[in-house]
Amino acid sequence: MRDKIVAGNWKMNNNLPESITLLEALKKNEMHSEVKVMVAPSFPLLFPVKEMLKVSDIEVIAQNCNAHKQGAHTGEVAASMLTSIGVKTVIIGHSERRHLYNESDDLLAEKVNTALDESMQIIFCVGEELEARKANRQNETIKSQLENSLFHLNAEQMKKVIIAYEPVWAIGTGETATPEQAQEMHEFIRQQITERFDADLSENTSILYGGSVKPNNAKELFSKPDVDGGLIGGASLKADDFSAIINAF
Ligand code: G3P
Repeated sequence: MRDKIVAGNWKMNNNLPESITLLEALKKNEMHSEVKVMVAPSFPLLFPVKEMLKVSDIEVIAQNCNAHKQGAHTGEVAASMLTSIGVKTVIIGHSERRHLYNESDDLLAEKVNTALDESMQIIFCVGEELEARKANRQNETIKSQLENSLFHLNAEQMKKVIIAYEPVWAIGTGETATPEQAQEMHEFIRQQITERFDADLSENTSILYGGSVKPNNAKELFSKPDVDGGLIGGASLKADDFSAIINAF
């Protein structure tokens, strides 16, 4: 049985006082015991947030890592630095990394390899832009992203990968994909994994939806058979909203 996961991607938000305030409020809220909860602070906050959550079941994850193992890459963060502080999961391929920081499929494949070399779990993001959706080319976009950055892996490596489908046109816009659109794409992604690997692996791969998930739409999204949870941006910055989404299962 695959995991149900709700991960909060804080993006470039929450300094230390704001992180403390958010987590104090979050820790007071009841959370669904069968849902794996994760939060992704920015790099400087990873260690203090891990300390603040060390007695909770909430996993602290990273938003990115460099493709190189170490070296002359000023300002960058290595996967081994993350694992050295107990961070075992990293988001790779978020659309903001693809489109704002020009991360290509090839670079993302290298990041995947480096994170796996550190035995990290990966939340790998895929998603089409509005132009592709309007032209009904969403499936070929996602297929290409999977093939170019993930499908070089073997089955054992692929077991370390969680997929997050985040239609770019739904991120931060309030334009959430309909539950039917999400289910259709998740089913397509699962089928691609079945064809590349096998049915057992695809059935055990968690596929999260991201893009304007809110307390008022999470229940219907998560009710779909191939939607295994969410990667949450804005709503993860509000304790009650994030808790409500976790409890929407
Ligand atoms: O990684 C999650 C993020 O891209 C979704 O953002 O604000 O639309 O929930 P938001």
